Amino acid sequence: MKIFVDTAKIEEIKQVKEWGILEGVTTNPTLLSQTGKPWKEAVLEILREIPDKPVSLEVIATDFEGMVREAQELAKLGENVVIKIPFTPEGIKAVKALTAEGIKTNVTLVFSPLQALVAGKIGATYVSPFIGRIDDISYDGLSVLEEIVHLYETYGIETEIIAASIRHVDHVRKCALLGVDIITIPFTVIKQMLYHPLTEIGLKRFLEDAKKANISIL
Ligand code: E4P
Repeated sequence: MKIFVDTAKIEEIKQVKEWGILEGVTTNPTLLSQTGKPWKEAVLEILREIPDKPVSLEVIATDFEGMVREAQELAKLGENVVIKIPFTPEGIKAVKALTAEGIKTNVTLVFSPLQALVAGKIGATYVSPFIGRIDDISYDGLSVLEEIVHLYETYGIETEIIAASIRHVDHVRKCALLGVDIITIPFTVIKQMLYHPLTEIGLKRFLEDAKKANISIL
């Protein structure tokens, strides 16, 4: 399971890269608005930081022609740009057209197995089911994801599944167990994954004992 970071903040991207676990970035208009920078400046900074890993950028047009035109412009910004297109009737038309042009797509705002099936049929590069937002309406995001994984395996669909809208560490564990291709995780959750109270307690004890035993390696 590849790890993408779900953020547009360059300092978060740099930190995850330093930890050595960054395999891609997903953004959306909300995340870009949180940078406090002009959107293009924020996007170019990200593309410069990771020129060799996929970066999802979302269109804001909602009609077919507008989405295709915006996607073509965004795709010019870098070879690693992936165009996020919302799952709507116009959106799926746009994905089909962009796939034919060789532009990579990420079908976003996916909340059902059938939406994911359609995304696969039209040749999307990625599909992003939003787990947390399904939980938010008191349904079970992970069971939706499980059905998507099952359908993709059953029909040999090559579109890669990006588990999105991740809220906590246990979402990450369960997505990994379901065998999704990719998970896009907010920075705060990635940080939580790297700390464990028993590791902290264990390390403290080892260091105290090292002192007692006069261990000094260098
Ligand atoms: C996915 O690509 C989206 O950017 C993201 O995961 C949405 O998550 P949210 O529900 O936390 O906004």
